[in-house]
Amino acid sequence: MSQMLSIENVIKRYGDFTAIKNVSVTIEKGEFFTLLGPSGCGKTTLLRMIAGFNTIEDGVIRFGDTVINSIPAHKRNTGMVFQNYAIFPHLSVFDNVAYGLKARNLSKEEIEQQVDEVLDLVKMLEYKERQPSKLSGGQQQRVALARAIVIKPDVLLMDEPLSNLDAKLRVEMRSVIKKIQQNLQITTVYVTHDQEEALAISDRIAVMNLGTIQQVGNPLTIYTRPVNTFVSNFIGTSTFLPCMVTSGSEKSKVTVYDEVFEMPLSKEYKGEAILAVRPEEFRIVDEKSSKIHGRIQFVTFLGDFINYEVSLPNDQTIQVNEYIKDTLKMRKEGDLIGITFDESRINIYSKNGEEALI
Ligand SMILES: Nc1ncnc2c1ncn2[C@@H]1O[C@H](COP(=O)(O)OP(=O)(O)OP(=O)(O)O)[C@@H](O)[C@H]1O
Ligand SMILES: [Mg+2]
Repeated sequence: MSQMLSIENVIKRYGDFTAIKNVSVTIEKGEFFTLLGPSGCGKTTLLRMIAGFNTIEDGVIRFGDTVINSIPAHKRNTGMVFQNYAIFPHLSVFDNVAYGLKARNLSKEEIEQQVDEVLDLVKMLEYKERQPSKLSGGQQQRVALARAIVIKPDVLLMDEPLSNLDAKLRVEMRSVIKKIQQNLQITTVYVTHDQEEALAISDRIAVMNLGTIQQVGNPLTIYTRPVNTFVSNFIGTSTFLPCMVTSGSEKSKVTVYDEVFEMPLSKEYKGEAILAVRPEEFRIVDEKSSKIHGRIQFVTFLGDFINYEVSLPNDQTIQVNEYIKDTLKMRKEGDLIGITFDESRINIYSKNGEEALI
């Protein structure tokens, strides 16, 4: 794959406020790349810089080898899909999709053929003559997608395109988007604050916070090896347990609630640290088999697994999952349990949470 979009040390300021702080990332041709992060972290701001709707105060954005900083939005050949459908309410489905082609000097027949092709792709051909007011939210979003891709954009930009849809439709539409993107191999930058959506749809994800990129990686890496506690906390559920690292690297001794584990750390570290454990990484054992004890406070049966809310002696509450494929035992509120975890899966961070030690 070759690089399609390259963002180099870009900065965006709104007056005194720096919304994007020296961000660099490259996106490959044909890649589905997602900007993920909490509200206000700068996702839309960065996307609008790529689209040409925001100025770039410093740094460079390239499409291929071309610096696009001063190329106006309408000449960048990007397709955009927004959160609020943004299709023209007074134009039919066909005219909405044809809109972007009309400026392109094509014959009526060519336009008709290309519009029909994408309407077929998004499964909206039969609604061609409808007005948008007579379409559901999901159908309107399909039209918006068709309108964005009919121009064969170099880069497809989508800003929370599914957030106005109900949960079931959101899941359905995300696979529609992913399949069309794979089929057409369009380089795509997708914005969401929904971590599950990002994990499901992306080739790679950039996790953002406060105008910076914290980690770039494929969904599996982002989920299993977050680079800091911010990412660990934002993606999925993590419990942070205070711990103490007492000897050098290789096989370090990590003490958590009097229980000692040996863990191979990637760097020399001694002193207080943080263990990050996901609900599926905890294991419930006999209370005599571990020095970490907890009491079950709340039980939630979820079909394929059971979630236990467990309080530890220092009143810290942890989430522990047990899977039906592993045990059919249902534990009860009030039960005292021993707790351990899968040492090869859990993560450990420096005390300030900023550095992964594995
Ligand atoms: N036109 C503007 N003028 C001043 N500040 C702005 C402007 N647009 C955005 N900001 C600020 O820049 C920061 C990033 O905003 P942005 O819209 O990029 O966030 P976001 O990550 O897209 O959030 P959300 O998930 O809520 O859409 C926020 O603190 C926001 O208040
Ligand atoms: Mg936004």
